[in-house]
Amino acid sequence: MAIERIGVIGAGTMGTGIAIASAAHGINVKLLDASSDAIGRAKQTADTFYGRAAEKGRMSADDAAAASARITGAAAMADLGDSELVIEAVFEDFDLKAKVFGDLAPVVDASCLVATNTSCLKVSDLQAQMPAPERFLGLHYFSPAQINPIVEVVKGDGTSDAAFAAAMAFCQATGKDPLPCRDQYGFAINRFFCPYTNEAARALDDGLGTPAEIDAVAKEAIGAAAGPFFVMNIIKPRINLHAIRNLAPLGPFYAPAASMERTGDADANWEIGEAGEIPAERAQAIANRLRAGCFLPTLQELDEGVAEPQVIDHGAREALKLARPPCASMDSLGKDKVAAIIAPALETYGVAVPKALDRVGHLLG
Ligand SMILES: NC(=O)c1ccc[n+]([C@@H]2O[C@H](COP(=O)([O-])OP(=O)(O)OC[C@H]3O[C@@H](n4cnc5c(N)ncnc54)[C@H](O)[C@@H]3O)[C@@H](O)[C@H]2O)c1
Repeated sequence: MAIERIGVIGAGTMGTGIAIASAAHGINVKLLDASSDAIGRAKQTADTFYGRAAEKGRMSADDAAAASARITGAAAMADLGDSELVIEAVFEDFDLKAKVFGDLAPVVDASCLVATNTSCLKVSDLQAQMPAPERFLGLHYFSPAQINPIVEVVKGDGTSDAAFAAAMAFCQATGKDPLPCRDQYGFAINRFFCPYTNEAARALDDGLGTPAEIDAVAKEAIGAAAGPFFVMNIIKPRINLHAIRNLAPLGPFYAPAASMERTGDADANWEIGEAGEIPAERAQAIANRLRAGCFLPTLQELDEGVAEPQVIDHGAREALKLARPPCASMDSLGKDKVAAIIAPALETYGVAVPKALDRVGHLLG
């Protein structure tokens, strides 16, 4: 049965975006936040969003008013009792999220799906806090959630097939493009996006180029609309560093670069400047470092069965706007070139050759 009523816990950046996207597709949304101001701000953001959509002819004025009316505030957890799906989007803190799920569990019906929008925690670890882990999963929306189509639908160790299918259907019904993936640090997309930004910082630390030069090479090498330093300044280096630190259990290749730690810990931005002419040999060295940053984690996640090659590339194109996503790039370069590109990282960080390297050339069939 289609989901019609959801609860969203945490009406910040992501909770607001999720509410806006869902209500625009006919879903009744109850928003709960620890701060009373947050609901008013979320409603204001929604009204502005729908108002602009109506002005631009993307929705009728009646539909805009109806969507806005579907978003209501919840005064207490008990108000979420009639939800068919509850999405948690509170601060990224395990204990806080665990407490939220503990408080939610006795309130909702036994059939209610419960999802976390965590970026950095393992879904299965949070799932262990739930009395009914089979209906718990990850719904990782990409920012801005009101317009970014991609949602990683993350199957935790205990998630049932039925809950997973229902969450996929909910995403499709609300205009989203769901990426099915298994639970692993970084899921399908941050798994390679974070190391790619980290390799950019390592290339800087190793004197291969300035941030502006590395950004310029990235546009060509991986088909990025904007280079990694520019993008990190939008995300905020502090938040990117937090996401990279979260990947630490995956091994030393994922450890943050020195400049990444300095910039992120200082809550500073990268100083980018202008790029001049870059000698071809140096541009090639930078390109290979950035490619290794994408390719090695992608091959590893293929070995781990986190997501299918088509899914990874689709997410890279849609969520990150990469014109040359990792699997397609590797297929077009071929196994020998990819092996040569990742070889320095394998040696430096003592990483085993990923088995998926043998499939390069026909990853996408
Ligand atoms: N911002 C992003 O780009 C992004 C992208 C994907 C996923 N995420 C994840 O989404 C989650 C939320 O991130 P955000 O950027 O929206 O954070 P945010 O700081 O904008 O909003 C968090 C909201 O949670 C509320 N809150 C805190 N404790 C609460 C509680 N006990 N009960 C109810 N509300 C509570 C806060 O008042 C705040 O309004 C995090 O887990 C984050 O990692 C963020």
